[in-house]
Amino acid sequence: MCGIVGAVLSEGAVLEGLLDGLRALEYRGYDSAGVAVGIEGGVSIRRQAGRLESLEQALADGALDGARIGIGHTRWATHGPPTEINAHPHTDAGGRVALVHNGIIENYLELREELCEEGVEFVSDTDTEVLAQLVGRYLGRGGDLAAAVRATLARVRGYYAIAALAIDGDGDTLVCARQGPPLCLGIVAGGAHLASDPLALVRHTREVVFLEDGDVAVLRPGSCEVTDGSGGAVERPAVLLEIDAEQAGRGSYPHFMLKEIHEQPDVLARTAFDRIDEVGGEVRFVEEGWEVERLRAIERVQLLACGTARYACQVAAFQLEGLAGVPAEVDYASEFRYRSPCLSPDTLALAISQSGETADTLAALRLARELGARAGAICNVPESTLVREADCFLMTCAGPEIGVASTKAFVSQIVTSYLLAVAVGRARGTLDPERVRGLLADLRLLRPRLAQLLSRETQERIAAIAERHHDVKGFLFLGRGIHYPVALEGALKLKEISYMHAEGYPAGEMKHGPIALIEPGMTTVVIANKGPLAEKVRSNLEQVRARGGQVICVGSDPGSLALADETIEVPQATPWLAPVLSVAPLQLLAYEIALRRGCDIDKPRNLAKSVTVE
Ligand code: F6R
Repeated sequence: MCGIVGAVLSEGAVLEGLLDGLRALEYRGYDSAGVAVGIEGGVSIRRQAGRLESLEQALADGALDGARIGIGHTRWATHGPPTEINAHPHTDAGGRVALVHNGIIENYLELREELCEEGVEFVSDTDTEVLAQLVGRYLGRGGDLAAAVRATLARVRGYYAIAALAIDGDGDTLVCARQGPPLCLGIVAGGAHLASDPLALVRHTREVVFLEDGDVAVLRPGSCEVTDGSGGAVERPAVLLEIDAEQAGRGSYPHFMLKEIHEQPDVLARTAFDRIDEVGGEVRFVEEGWEVERLRAIERVQLLACGTARYACQVAAFQLEGLAGVPAEVDYASEFRYRSPCLSPDTLALAISQSGETADTLAALRLARELGARAGAICNVPESTLVREADCFLMTCAGPEIGVASTKAFVSQIVTSYLLAVAVGRARGTLDPERVRGLLADLRLLRPRLAQLLSRETQERIAAIAERHHDVKGFLFLGRGIHYPVALEGALKLKEISYMHAEGYPAGEMKHGPIALIEPGMTTVVIANKGPLAEKVRSNLEQVRARGGQVICVGSDPGSLALADETIEVPQATPWLAPVLSVAPLQLLAYEIALRRGCDIDKPRNLAKSVTVE
């Protein structure tokens, strides 16, 4: 969940590049930051609690400007509070080694005790400092940094991406290693760069080498040697990144979240349109493992995910049951991994994840595979652990999602699961080609409707609603059927970025308790679309109004819209895809409310993108 960068150059200076890289990675963790550089025969470190700006100010004296080798880190605290002392890089007792780390060292307490018995004094609360101290111990005087890192990692249990530099011996060498969290390298003439996320490398090169678990890499200006844990050379081919520096930026938008909300019509098109054959009435995946026999063999789907992706799983379950006639169950990955689920080889365990690095989701899918299920994934990051480990995967094409609150990834997940449900239904004969043609035509129609919904007019309307509701006591989000997960997502978005209390409920469940919350000053957002449940939702809405609650109605049902205090009309869509439309106004509502409450929208407190710890 932290961000790591490093660079070594034969000429010029690394500091500005390290800070640029940290800016690109700040969404991964932002409670403290630091850099270490090799300069004037020693290691110099600057660290600051708080945002990257504090570190930039601390570096403004220019003292480290000339360094040609350095590492940097932006932190999301796991061991110890986000103070300067706990910020990375950490050093050994002799101050010769500096090291940054993302992940968890599970046996750090026993290693720490061992080192303390030898007289080593620790200064931080972190597990990372143990690594720095051990590397220092194995380095000796004038030793080989890569050998010291390998010796250290041989003692360690846990998962990590690390980068280290040392002065004396290997003065112009960076060493990095991976076991779990991602790490990638970019080699350019006269320089070598490393980062925990390719987004930090695109400004240097689009040709990137992804390390595999167990790899240790040695970087020198213009070269990189990748080895295994015992020092044997391994080949890791460079991959050409599809993203460029522009995609990784915010453009003219004030926040990544707003940019990503507005990207959704294009994301939908990228995710869907190359995979559909409307004339033939077929869905075609280029990814392997989804051949007709494979799809036909699926008797049950176990969906696994966390957070927003879990709500996408709930939508997927509706699609799979409703369109393909396959039983589908959803669980929190963090719960599933600690129960004793019953799975069989005809079960497709399907993990949905934007990052593909969520620790609970990975563990849940591994367990499902151990229990005999086929392990599938819907994921947005091709190089992720999830994609590498899954038996079969489908990529969502949302592009880099940098706003911590997930938006466009959710839409791309719903579109992908729709395609999967249609493909499974077609393979099983639940859907005939004619029906599939209709369903694919519905998908085509969705893009212009979503684009229309995201017009300036809608945003202004939602901004006006936010103006009237940004300081209410709390929010209740209600939805039925496939819109129940959308209600959950609306509540999650709001609480994540505005810190207001918000709960999502199935509308029919309201009278079993939550109705006690309804009073003037409490806002209820009701998702109400045309369809067989419209009347029932309308009566839930009336129950709220009768108790003095304020209602914002989002949907296409004219009866409900007529009853509400505030309305956001949403174009009609096929029910299996309607969540794509009903979620967009909720994302904008959360955004506009957070804006009025002065919150840091792209970097909400306590959160980080990609939760790589339990
Ligand atoms: C919410 C959010 C999180 C993630 C969750 C899973 O806005 O971003 O709830 O959805 O942490 O992350 P991924 O999809 O990367 O597995």
